[in-house]
Amino acid sequence: MNSNITPAIRQYLDIKEKYKDCILFYRMGDFYEMFFEDAKIASQLLEITLTSRGKKDDTPIPLCGVPVRAAQGYIARMIELGRKVAICEQMEDAALAKGVVRREVVRVITPGMIVENEFLDEKANNYILALAAVAGRGAEIHIGISYLDISTGAFRLSESDDINAVSDEILRVSPKELLFPESAKSDAFLSPLIAALSEKMAMTFLEDRFFEYAQARERLLDQFKTLSLEGFGCEDRKAGVKAAGALLFYVGETQKQKIAHLGGLETYILGDYLLVDETSTRNLELFRNLRTGSRQGTLLSVIDKTMTAMGSRLLASWLKYPLMNADKIQERLDAVAEALKRAQPRKSLRECLKSVSDLERLGSKIAMGYANARDMIAVKRSLQTLPEIVFLLSEFHHPAFGCFINRSLTLAAQSRERERPASDVEQLYNLAELIEKAIREDAPLTITEGGIIKTGYHAELDELIGMSKDGKGWLVRLEAEEKKATGINSLKVRYNKVFGYYIEIPRKRSESVPAHYVRKQTMVNAERFVTDELKSFESKILNAESRRFALEYELFDEIRKQVIQHNPAIQETAKFLAETDCMLNLAEIAEQNDYTKPEINTEGIFFIESGRHPVIEKMISGERFVPNTIRMDDTENQMLIITGPNMAGKSTILRQVALTAIMAQMGSFVPARKASVSITDRIFTRVGALDNLSQGQSTFMVEMQETANILHNASSKSLVIIDEIGRGTSTFDGISIAWAVAEYLHDLKGNGVKTLFATHYHELTELVRSKTRVKNYNIVVKEWNDKIIFLRKLAEGSANRSYGIQVAGLAGIPGAVVQRAKEILANMENGNQGAKAPSVSAEIQTFPKKKAIQLDLFSKSEYFLMEEIRGLDISKMTPIEAINCLNQLQEKVKKLGFRN
Ligand SMILES: Nc1ncnc2c1ncn2[C@@H]1O[C@H](COP(=O)(O)OP(=O)(O)O)[C@@H](O)[C@H]1O
Ligand SMILES: [Mg+2]
Repeated sequence: MNSNITPAIRQYLDIKEKYKDCILFYRMGDFYEMFFEDAKIASQLLEITLTSRGKKDDTPIPLCGVPVRAAQGYIARMIELGRKVAICEQMEDAALAKGVVRREVVRVITPGMIVENEFLDEKANNYILALAAVAGRGAEIHIGISYLDISTGAFRLSESDDINAVSDEILRVSPKELLFPESAKSDAFLSPLIAALSEKMAMTFLEDRFFEYAQARERLLDQFKTLSLEGFGCEDRKAGVKAAGALLFYVGETQKQKIAHLGGLETYILGDYLLVDETSTRNLELFRNLRTGSRQGTLLSVIDKTMTAMGSRLLASWLKYPLMNADKIQERLDAVAEALKRAQPRKSLRECLKSVSDLERLGSKIAMGYANARDMIAVKRSLQTLPEIVFLLSEFHHPAFGCFINRSLTLAAQSRERERPASDVEQLYNLAELIEKAIREDAPLTITEGGIIKTGYHAELDELIGMSKDGKGWLVRLEAEEKKATGINSLKVRYNKVFGYYIEIPRKRSESVPAHYVRKQTMVNAERFVTDELKSFESKILNAESRRFALEYELFDEIRKQVIQHNPAIQETAKFLAETDCMLNLAEIAEQNDYTKPEINTEGIFFIESGRHPVIEKMISGERFVPNTIRMDDTENQMLIITGPNMAGKSTILRQVALTAIMAQMGSFVPARKASVSITDRIFTRVGALDNLSQGQSTFMVEMQETANILHNASSKSLVIIDEIGRGTSTFDGISIAWAVAEYLHDLKGNGVKTLFATHYHELTELVRSKTRVKNYNIVVKEWNDKIIFLRKLAEGSANRSYGIQVAGLAGIPGAVVQRAKEILANMENGNQGAKAPSVSAEIQTFPKKKAIQLDLFSKSEYFLMEEIRGLDISKMTPIEAINCLNQLQEKVKKLGFRN
């Protein structure tokens, strides 16, 4: 290595070598400095000045820095931009160090490894997810995923043999950072997944050995102090354990400490939850508004009126993971029903919850040593509400509200009989009392400069504080005495940071200064002196102050340790409060929005009487939302084909059915007068509104990919929403595709799948003739004076006209164009191909004729039959198949025969 570099830079390079993928924040005094490439990147990302210092290989070394006090904001920016930051501190006092100050990286902050709530969205989890694969006995590969939110301690694990399911799940978790073994990059099986995900989240690759099974398992056992993983349900899940173990390794690497606050690991099964894939989550605007990307106008924004950050996160996860188990759904619904009924205690409880802070994140922050006195105050206020909460909860009988109290009460009862520890609630309340006694409400953010501990808490501290207070009086006395002794009335005793305490005397009285005054500083109008007396006072005061700071820190640390000791109970309480918050919230929104308790049936019936769209009913102003009744089942009403002009409300109905299903399965009441729903395993949507042009794919291509996904993955327990299909291609192609897709879904695996199919192709309403489980519906509009009025009412049967031209008029298309369109339409409808069109261009004159022939042809389902016959590959059929086929064709012809 080059020898002309300074020892500090040599040390920098050695440390940087170990943190290649991080921006190294290198502590030098009051600054974090960045050098070389890091400096260039940081100066750009953080918009700070790039300078240089010294040289390496005769080239100036780029440098930039941020003050330590302002570092938080800069670090947050880096993380937000998907970077990792390694914090390197000075490990000894620079004044005492021999040679270069010893420095160490004390922590690595990455997008998925953030503890401090200040950096995080309080309403969302911040996950890092690891993936590992294990070859099965046959050709199959088990894939394990595990993810962790270090700020709350949430730690989960799951497995699947299906890479598509894993991909769906990763998108559902939407972690901020992904952890893969190095070898996955070149693995033919995993690399496409990595490529697809790397656009959306930060990626970290670890050496394969950190994913090694035996060590991974050992790490987990060590973390949880257990003998096996049985209790977490993952003893036999090798791939999942590998992923979870790698995560723990990475936590250790980045945090440089043990993470005691991880309470456990939850193993779950993907199939236990209703899956709404990423596209459908987007289309249904569950969490994000399609246009703005914000929360506004989403289902979550309508149903989230929780009072705590923990509740808000839990509700979002309930919405992400709607249940599939009827009993569990019923249990939540019953709890909500009770909370709805008991309005008064519900409202009081919600009021109490307002003063509960984010205990999950505070607990982690405290456990990891990043908390300050204000965090303790927040813990205190939260815990102080517990007795009131417990009291109010005693009015509820549903077990969901009771487990916590019952447990606490029994423990309390036991403790009275024999000297058992007090209940959680009591213990936590005592903890709050301790904080109350010790910590000042107005404590500063720093924990090393005093001002934290209340007077009366600790005798020695009080003495030290008294000394500095007395000191002030002593100074006033000294000033008076010196004035008297010297006869200089303008004499002052003052303090500044550079000189400490001094006596100041105006220049014009210099001759009266006593001999024992020692001159320290001469200024234009005054001179400053010290005396022995003042010096000894100063050292006493300053000593007292630094002793006070140290003592306050010590006392604070003791309390912090107490809190950490109680952290498991705090976390359990936090979990319970979050759940309570969610239940009360669901009751509250049910009351406010007039929702009803859905029934859960096992007959495959979907019946929504007078249902509404939960979001649109809140957004339309002026117009009243018109409720509609929908019935679907697996016999006659499995596929509903909904026609109606644009703007009639087709898309709205489709979405409201999907949203109602999701709400019911998350245990929420639903926007309807009455509802009975059967449990759905997946919801698929194919919605035409937005295209992905920005990603370089054509609208039609995206549409077909989404459709392919549905056709491959739907089961007979799914719910499929198809909102216009085939629009991106010619009418012929479009109708043919729509028809074939509808048929396929109707016949899916012999049973078909519940499908809502909105289309402007009227031809599709013919499907009812050949497919038994299809029903036609339309959304009624009324014609009035050549205009149309939207009635928003769903009615059985098909719409007879499309009213496109009237809607165009409503949209502000110029009158002349609308008029001309009407003429063209009239020509087509009359089949009057030779009719004289008003003299416009020849092109427009010929266009309607061609179309007219197509549409004419199309009005006959025979076309499809002909297409089918044309498509047969007779050379590949066995004689039996040919006979069967002929038989089917004949059946179809017979059905068509009814028509004429
Ligand atoms: N049931 C309803 N009651 C009141 N307004 C409705 C209703 N359904 C839809 N709307 C209004 O009509 C607009 C268009 O509905 P939409 O479902 O997009 O129509 P389509 O899909 O048939 O073109 C919605 O944005 C909403 O403002
Ligand atoms: Mg629509």
